Amino acid sequence: MIRNLNIIQRGDSLKLINFVDDNSIDLIICDGPYGVTNNGWDSVEAGIQRYNLNLIKLFSSKLKNGGSLYLFGKSDCIDFIDYRPYLTLKRKIVWYQPSRLAQGKTNYTNNYDFICFFVKGSKANVFNLDDIRIPQLVDLTHRKRCENVPSVTNGTWGKTKFNDRGKNPGDVWGDIKQLTYKSKELVSRDALNTIQKPEILIKRLVLASSNEGDLVLDPFAGTGTCPAVCIRHGRNFIAFEKDGDYVDEGNRRVAKEIMLKRKNRLEQDSYLFASNA
Ligand SMILES: C[S@@+](CC[C@H](N)C(=O)[O-])C[C@H]1O[C@@H](n2cnc3c(N)ncnc32)[C@H](O)[C@@H]1O
Repeated sequence: MIRNLNIIQRGDSLKLINFVDDNSIDLIICDGPYGVTNNGWDSVEAGIQRYNLNLIKLFSSKLKNGGSLYLFGKSDCIDFIDYRPYLTLKRKIVWYQPSRLAQGKTNYTNNYDFICFFVKGSKANVFNLDDIRIPQLVDLTHRKRCENVPSVTNGTWGKTKFNDRGKNPGDVWGDIKQLTYKSKELVSRDALNTIQKPEILIKRLVLASSNEGDLVLDPFAGTGTCPAVCIRHGRNFIAFEKDGDYVDEGNRRVAKEIMLKRKNRLEQDSYLFASNA
């Protein structure tokens, strides 16, 4: 069984997954092949739907009951496959890129990815809405008007409530931009080809669907975004990646986060010591 927590392991996740205990994982962030480019890492022989169904079968057995799995892909990533014996689909989140360049002349440009939110069983053990609220962005007059408009929750009418801490981010996320060549967190130009994800995107998923001390599985770690976010927010992780260069890069990011945490803890301890002296 896997004992190497908090380090990205090099290898094929479809094999390494067999060394993970069943029913042991709180959250899975599954950002694997999309099956849309000619890049070696992205090609799937049997088609993306069949590939994803296999992932769902394999990974769902590792989730605890009530654990969550987020699957990244294009709009057709789970079309025509029956995932229902394994997981419950709670929401298809649209990760919308309004500024994506228009490509092609015979069809509408695709400017979103799907992040399919699944749960094992009917209800998620964890959904920390307060940790992922986003600004309301409504002005005061509009807000007052809205407060007089009734809203329906679970079939009953109630008053529309505004929460000063912000609102539920909903299922169309246009507030998080994909990384570009200019992004500070981009580990290398090459990483744009493997779609290195923004830390704030992964942070939203990790904070919403896990608690501190929980165990997160990232079977396609790429440049280590999810592992780095896990360390920063006090989660443990198991992660796999088959590209050796990305494994090294990802583990460097993880080591940096661990060092930063230690430094902050030392500074805090010395502050407490000084103020108690
Ligand atoms: C979309 S990228 C992940 C990007 C990552 N979330 C990040 O922010 O850097 C998918 C990654 O999966 C890796 N990969 C593809 N098939 C794999 C497999 N069978 N086992 C392990 N890694 C795999 C690729 O090398 C690639 O780095």
